Amino acid sequence: MRRLLVTGGAGFIGSNFVRYWIKQHPEDRVINLDVLTYAGNLESLTDIEAAPGYRFVHGDITDRQFVRRLMEDEQIDTVVNFAAESHVDRSILGPDAFITTNILGTFSLLEAARAVWGDFDSTQCFLHVSTDEVYGSLKADEPAFDEQHAYAPNSPYSASKASSDHLVRAYHHTYGMPVLTTNCSNNYGPYQFPEKLIPLTILNALEGKPIPVYGDGKNIRDWLYVDDHCGGIEAVLQGGIPGEVYNIGGINEWYNIDIVNLICERLDEHRPGADSYKAQITYVTDRPGHDRRYAIDAGRMQSELGWSPQHDFQSGIERTIQWYLDHRDWCDRVRSGEYRDYYVRQYGESENS
Ligand code: NAD
Ligand code: TYD
Repeated sequence: MRRLLVTGGAGFIGSNFVRYWIKQHPEDRVINLDVLTYAGNLESLTDIEAAPGYRFVHGDITDRQFVRRLMEDEQIDTVVNFAAESHVDRSILGPDAFITTNILGTFSLLEAARAVWGDFDSTQCFLHVSTDEVYGSLKADEPAFDEQHAYAPNSPYSASKASSDHLVRAYHHTYGMPVLTTNCSNNYGPYQFPEKLIPLTILNALEGKPIPVYGDGKNIRDWLYVDDHCGGIEAVLQGGIPGEVYNIGGINEWYNIDIVNLICERLDEHRPGADSYKAQITYVTDRPGHDRRYAIDAGRMQSELGWSPQHDFQSGIERTIQWYLDHRDWCDRVRSGEYRDYYVRQYGESENS
């Protein structure tokens, strides 16, 4: 039986992971520590909040003493660190929170774990959830990122994640902490905050708003259904070698514009209007420093841990679209006043235009 501290468990991937873990491991204790930023929503967890062994704790990972007490009280043996500021565009508009949460927050968690765990043993594990963005941008003909790829982060977000990855690595080499790092490609699925490409496209289409496509729309991302990421983390927790890095990805590269067109076509079927939703596609000024292509080589996950994605993109995107169609109330509620302010700053127009 494990006793997990899941940080950021009210966010997109964290809430999917908490649900996934409770279903797969009902005997485990799962403590969800989340400060509930704009991106953290307890409404994403209502179906499992009464599960035995589950507890939500409202708190900040940067508060080292608080985390330390919580780890002691709950006798935590496994930390899964999702808590982060995660949106590249926000990191360009205001990097401070990214430095504080992603770097100092991870540092604080590592220090708390070091203090509580003392002499490390084989039951303990600190799994740090990171991103493929730390590797920078690939040219069209370059091979996908493997675990040896050099770090070259290009945004304040990816630089802050890279920094936290280095701290995690250092705690293994210096102190012998049993750490694992996963670097995953772009996730999609239910409960993703509608500032990211896929949910933003779905909602703007349905709401008759412009669908913003940055630059020429030919940037490439490698998309993974969120449950497959959760399964990948589970595989790493169960079979990963302490101190090692595992790249998790969808083996599923898409141009942004092709995804946007696909979503419009699916919505034309689900909710037909007078015009195709494609008429709302609007090319806008490119993101500064916009990475051209990400792609993950998930060979190590496949050969060493027997993991591979279970959801193909066609069925995953269909489930995702259906989920957003069925959960318009969730979308309305998470788009708070803070989100509306961000939207105006990012796209230079009111959300209702
Ligand atoms: P998210 O923005 O949806 O959720 C982040 C969560 O962290 C929120 O619930 C927020 O309230 C919480 N949080 C923020 N600051 C905190 C703090 N100081 N203390 C406690 N909680 C705090 O992010 P996500 O998309 O679910 O990403 C989760 C993790 O996975 C991040 O570390 C991200 O870098 C990584 N990742 C994301 C993707 C992706 O495509 N979304 C891909 C690879 C890796
Ligand atoms: P995003 O979902 O923000 O993820 P990330 O930047 O972490 O990859 O963006 C995915 C891609 O979609 C990225 O190339 C930027 C692009 N994009 C748009 O074209 N328009 C948008 O409104 C957003 C949010 C993203």
